[in-house]
Amino acid sequence: AAKQPLKVMISGAPASGKGTQCEMIVKKYGLVHISTGDLLRSEVAAETEIGKKAKEFMDNGMLVPDEIVTNMVLSRLSQNDVREKGWLLDGYPRSSSQAASLEGVKLRPDVFILLDVPDEILIDRCIGRRLDPVTRKIYHLKNFPPETEEISARIITRTDDSEEKVKSRLETYKRNCDSILPIYKDLLKKVNGNRPKENVFADIDSLLQQISDDFAKTKYLE
Ligand code: AP5
Repeated sequence: AAKQPLKVMISGAPASGKGTQCEMIVKKYGLVHISTGDLLRSEVAAETEIGKKAKEFMDNGMLVPDEIVTNMVLSRLSQNDVREKGWLLDGYPRSSSQAASLEGVKLRPDVFILLDVPDEILIDRCIGRRLDPVTRKIYHLKNFPPETEEISARIITRTDDSEEKVKSRLETYKRNCDSILPIYKDLLKKVNGNRPKENVFADIDSLLQQISDDFAKTKYLE
């Protein structure tokens, strides 16, 4: 019988490790990773109409207007691969109106993972973060330096990763976070993100494994 696909939301402050954990989750569970930050950065890089509108908001650490982001997410969620493989939503919803858009079309996750990391660690993580524009892999100059000289020569810094912009992103996150959590409180799992990434993943892995096992049991009983 076909396996029931998982539906996962991952949330947390800027640099709490969402993208890093998503890489590991996708590798093991094969879910479709939908990151609004990545989708928006691709639009900016390709200089599309959406990208031109989004850039100024992103560069200032502000949220991009809902109608842009919500249309992008809903259209991605409606594609076939998502229905077959399940989804991993990263960075959305980020406001109560975005959460309401999902509730409106009855899209709810099986689990809402919240990565918890102290503020002072977040700033250091952003300042040291580098991106490989070829593979989109996330590095950190101290914590996870690139594996080869070739990658070191091509990694780039995100335009919103300066100390000042990170502080403003953090403020935006804190303002919005409290309005979303009540909507998912029955599905909320807080994970301590201030540990080596393998340990963080071990906790997430056991949560997802538990849900998959519960699905399998229900199917067996039917
Ligand atoms: P987005 O890209 O979502 O940015 P963010 O939420 O600020 O999160 P980050 O990507 O900065 O961090 P992360 O948690 O993925 O951490 P990472 O794994 O990279 O959004 C960017 C912008 O787009 C927003 O500001 C907004 O303008 C716009 N936007 C996006 N979604 C939107 C929405 N829904 N509505 C409106 N606007 C939206 O890790 C960070 C660093 O730490 C890396 O260097 C990594 O190597 C390192 N690291 C990771 N884990 C560990 C660990 N366990 N130990 C040590 N180091 C670690």
